[in-house]
Amino acid sequence: QVLPRFYHENVIDHYNNPRNVGAFDKKDSNVGTGLVGAPACGDVMKLQIKVDEVTGEITDACFKTFGCGSAIASSSVATEWVKGKKMEEIVTIKNTEIAKHLSLPPVKLHCSMLAEDAIKAAVKDYQSKHVNPSASSDAAS
Ligand code: FES
Ligand code: FES
Repeated sequence: QVLPRFYHENVIDHYNNPRNVGAFDKKDSNVGTGLVGAPACGDVMKLQIKVDEVTGEITDACFKTFGCGSAIASSSVATEWVKGKKMEEIVTIKNTEIAKHLSLPPVKLHCSMLAEDAIKAAVKDYQSKHVNPSASSDAAS
């Protein structure tokens, strides 16, 4: 048995072969960027989504994580899970689901929390770029 007893093979796999590492242009109007940090350990995660403006579907996702193996694995899973889903679906992804998928031990739960927070922050960022301007144009007319 070469794997550390604590870690599920999904963690090792996502740590060794992280999916979707990279960055999109955060100024792109179709891109939402979530940048979050864990106060407990100082680890930082950036997760980005690319959204189809018409359907609201996530067409692509990527991440860069400066952090522990569990944080890297959590962000890798998160980018896989958000693709092809709608924004209102991905904000309901729970860190506990990610932690369960990776069988993270309790001390590593906050690492998966980073991924949940990063998804929500990315959606918020995208939405802030698409604020409905109708209110102000109504006033002007
Ligand atoms: Fe990749 Fe499940 S092993 S999301
Ligand atoms: Fe802090 Fe993993 S130890 S994100």
